[in-house]
This record gives sequence, C-alpha cells and structure tokens, in this order.
Amino acid sequence: MLKGRKSVIGLDLGGSCIKAVEITRDKYDYIITGYGQVEIQNEAARPEAIRELFEQCRFKTKKVVTSVSGKSVIVRYINMVQMTPENLESAIRFEADKYIPFDLEEVQLECQKLMDLPVEEGGASPEMKVLLVAVKRSLVEEQARMLIDLGLQPIAIDVDAFAIGNAYELKESLSPGLSEEGKISGLVDIGANKTCINILKNNISLFAREVYLGGNDLTNAITRRMGVDIYQAEAMKKDPQDRENEVHEAITPVIEDLGNEINLSFDFFENQYDGSVNHVFMSGGSALLPGLEEDFEALFEKKTRVWNPIEGLKIRSDNVDIESLNCSALQLAVSVGLAARAV
Ligand SMILES: Nc1ncnc2c1ncn2[C@@H]1O[C@H](COP(=O)(O)OP(=O)(O)OP(=O)(O)O)[C@@H](O)[C@H]1O
Ligand SMILES: [Mg+2]
Repeated sequence: MLKGRKSVIGLDLGGSCIKAVEITRDKYDYIITGYGQVEIQNEAARPEAIRELFEQCRFKTKKVVTSVSGKSVIVRYINMVQMTPENLESAIRFEADKYIPFDLEEVQLECQKLMDLPVEEGGASPEMKVLLVAVKRSLVEEQARMLIDLGLQPIAIDVDAFAIGNAYELKESLSPGLSEEGKISGLVDIGANKTCINILKNNISLFAREVYLGGNDLTNAITRRMGVDIYQAEAMKKDPQDRENEVHEAITPVIEDLGNEINLSFDFFENQYDGSVNHVFMSGGSALLPGLEEDFEALFEKKTRVWNPIEGLKIRSDNVDIESLNCSALQLAVSVGLAARAV
C-alpha cells in the first residue's frame, strides 16, 4: 500500500531507553509505519539493544536520523550584522571561537539565521539573530560509525532539543491547538539523565539548554531516603501505592531543584527577549510522574501541561502495537521530531 513512499526512522538514543519511530510520508499524511523501544542499563549496551530492536520491528527502511546531546554539544544564539547566508558561513568561522569552549578543529559547526532584529534608533548596522551549534566531531563520527556497523544508513544527526521543537511543530501543523500566534511555548522534555528545554515563538527556537537532572535523580533520591534498591525505587516512583507521602517527601527536593533550573532558563530568556514564556509543554518519560504538572505549574506560575507528540499522525496498525505506542507517547518527542525533519 505504501510502496515507494519515503520512510525514515527517528532513532532516539536515550540514556535509559532507545526509541525508534518509522514515519512514512504519503502526500499530506505522516504515518507511523513502525515503532519499538527498549530499555538499556548503560551506554555500552546500545549497539546490541539497537540490533535486537531492529530485528523485532520489521521497519521498511534502513535510513535513520539520530541526535546528540550532552556537554559535547554547544548551542548559542548570537547577534551578528545582517548578511547573506554565504557570507554568514564564512563569517561564523571568525566569530565562533568567542562562543565555543573547544578547539574549532575538533568541532562540526552549523549556523542558521533565525530572524532580523529590530533596528535601534541611531544604532549601528542592522543585526540578525543567528543560531550557532557546535558538536565535537568525535561524538558525531562515533555515533555514525556505530550505526553503519549495525547495517543502518544514518542520513542526519540532529540535537535533542531541536528534535523536540520539530515534533511540536509537526503536531501543531497536523492537529493545532497548543500554539497561538505570537505566544511563546516552553518545551521541556524530562528524560532519565537530563531535561531538554527549547523555547519557541512562531516555530522559531529562541533558546535551548539542557539541565542534567532527570528521572534517575528521582529514583536515586527514593533509594537513599527509603533504603530500597533501585528497582523497587523505580517502581515506587511510578506508583507509590500506600507510601505516597514518603515518596513525595523523598523526591520533592529533586523536583524543586529541577523546577528552579527550568525557571532560571525562563528568566534568562525573558531578560534577553521582549516577552515571556506563556505556556509550558512537557514530554519525556519523567513527565508522567504523578502530580508533576501541578507541582511545576505552581512553581512556574504558568500553565503547564503534558502534550502528545504522536497526536495527528496516522498509525499503520498491522505493524505497530498501538496500545504500547500510546502508552509511551510522551517518550517519543525526540524520535518523532527526528524522523519528521527528514521524511
Ligand atoms: N510513569 C512514570 N512515572 C515517573 N517516571 C517515569 C514513568 N515512566 C517512565 N518514567 C521515567 O522516564 C525516564 C525515561 O524517559 P525517557 O525515555 O524520556 O528518557 P531517556 O530519553 O532514556 O533519557 P535521556 O533523555 O535523559 O537520555 C526514566 O527515568 C523512567 O523512570
Ligand atoms: Mg531523552
């Protein structure tokens, strides 16, 4: 039925869970034609876990888009004099070492004009806002090598925070309802090791940052405070049953730390731009934490909700377990965003 249509797999190499979503494009429809995920204990387990996942999932394609994240990825939003894209390419090489804490020889640089900035009265030449991304070349090469060794075809490598932005943009184009013209959305994806923040206005990313706190910190807090092992703590975090008060007490300091870090990013953004974040939209497995929407809404003093990155996409039910896809939907923002960009 979908023969000859373009398909791409978004492969999210999460710290605790690898997610793969195959999207096939059919005119205006985006169809999930394959899906699978597998938990991993550590990074060393990645290649074997990916191999098994691809054996099980019966994907149509070997084309994959993955992403990088972490401290080897630097994202900066800089002001530069307005110029053509060609001139920007060469100008950025001279500017970049001001912003990048690595040897430029070691990094892959990408830049993109985001928008023209308003001209100040009596000011100098008109400026523009530019997104600058630098990734340690070794990280990109290692990741590509691993995928090629597994028989896959990596066609692009993105950054987690931008993939989440892509998924949000796709969701809003297929099933509008979250964004309003001119309003600012704060996307917050809370994973196992980290939380990605991407602030968007009219689908343009104006700020992105990672905070190195996530679900593992919640689990560890329960382990320490309640004297249970990591597996029991993980289960109690998801469903505390009759120990709700103890679990809540154990994790509250971590939730406050994470919330304060996110709030600092919102403050930083508000100081840079004329405008403040209107709504917060959460994804990532840890956004399922019972009561988190209410806790964060109180802390941020902004409407805070989870959103569904697969809303509006069609699903091919003969190759996708719809129930488990829906159960894990919150975890799929990165993988959907990765596939959506390339398909
Ligand atoms: N119902 C739930 N309640 C609370 N936490 C949950 C729930 N379900 C999953 N999690 C947590 O979500 C995390 C996994 O989410 P996700 O797949 O988004 O992370 P990841 O992508 O592997 O991590 P990272 O983005 O940090 O690399 C784990 O820490 C897990 O404990
Ligand atoms: Mg993740």
